[in-house]
Amino acid sequence: MSNQLQTNRTSHKLIFGDSENMEEIENGSIHLVVTSPPYFNAPFDYPDFFRSYSEYLEKMRRVAKELKRVVAKGRVVSIICDDTLIRGEKYPVVADLTKIYLEEGFLYRDKIIWIKPEGYIRISRRSGVILQHPYPMYFYPDNIQETILIFQNGEFNYQDIPKEIKKSSKIDIKEYQENKWYLTTWHMVNVLPLKNRLENGVAAFPPEIPYRLIKLFSHIGETVLDPFTGSGTTNKVAALLKRNSIGYEIDLELYPIIKEKMGLEENLLFERDYDVFFTFRKDAKRLRTQLQKRVAVQKSVVKNGEGKAKGFIKRRKK
Ligand SMILES: C[S@@+](CC[C@H](N)C(=O)[O-])C[C@H]1O[C@@H](n2cnc3c(N)ncnc32)[C@H](O)[C@@H]1O
Repeated sequence: MSNQLQTNRTSHKLIFGDSENMEEIENGSIHLVVTSPPYFNAPFDYPDFFRSYSEYLEKMRRVAKELKRVVAKGRVVSIICDDTLIRGEKYPVVADLTKIYLEEGFLYRDKIIWIKPEGYIRISRRSGVILQHPYPMYFYPDNIQETILIFQNGEFNYQDIPKEIKKSSKIDIKEYQENKWYLTTWHMVNVLPLKNRLENGVAAFPPEIPYRLIKLFSHIGETVLDPFTGSGTTNKVAALLKRNSIGYEIDLELYPIIKEKMGLEENLLFERDYDVFFTFRKDAKRLRTQLQKRVAVQKSVVKNGEGKAKGFIKRRKK
């Protein structure tokens, strides 16, 4: 049993830099990946962040290659993503990422659909089109789902895990059954990027997602990686569940947010049972302020009517 497990103290390394290079991580040393990559040029998160869809896919492939190197044999990479709609054009991100991970040598294990409550839509309601034009061919549904893709790095050897580690990581079957983790649809409330929220402008996922995935696919004392760590949700949940973690984030402006999420700003009555280390690489950038300015422009375009039926249909006809 490792020293880390004996003392119950975990370590969390947050590295500011581009995750297509994860040189700080040894080959085969990661036990689980939980991540949500940037949404391809999503108007309210990353407008014009990538020059083209093929540039986006090339970046995703370079990260997949690095994950193939660092993930241990038999272990899981879970990716929260979805197809993206930009100016009436739909991009098949889920299909393309699946193809990339298969081509890079991962096994395709499962697909879970995360369903959000109906009222939690951030983008304009496409379904309104049919109300103004109640005829066939005007149907554009509102999207309240995201996809959790689950890949595996070859076969897992169940005998590799010592009995006592298995026992300490036992899944609470009552929680599993009551919250219906056993289905391929998971109902969860998403994090709305409200102005006063810590995650404003980050497109964070709810902690319930890494919570379930970490419990289902890793053991206490193992290491969870998030190559697109954003506000650090995966790292925070990993710490709560007594796993070590590593997070890569390209945007230096998220440093104060991650610090706060990891509880480093709090005055604790008791000593924290985890350590947090930050590394700042030369390839980190400052992005958030610049992206938020562009998002504000997008929002004003929608507010001024371009998102309404007429504009929407016109764009589709192009
Ligand atoms: C969808 S957000 C992740 C949010 C995260 N799951 C959370 O709960 O806060 C994607 C993050 O990836 C970061 N990112 C984009 N390209 C990156 C790259 N090449 N390397 C590392 N991080 C990157 C973005 O700055 C953004 O914070």
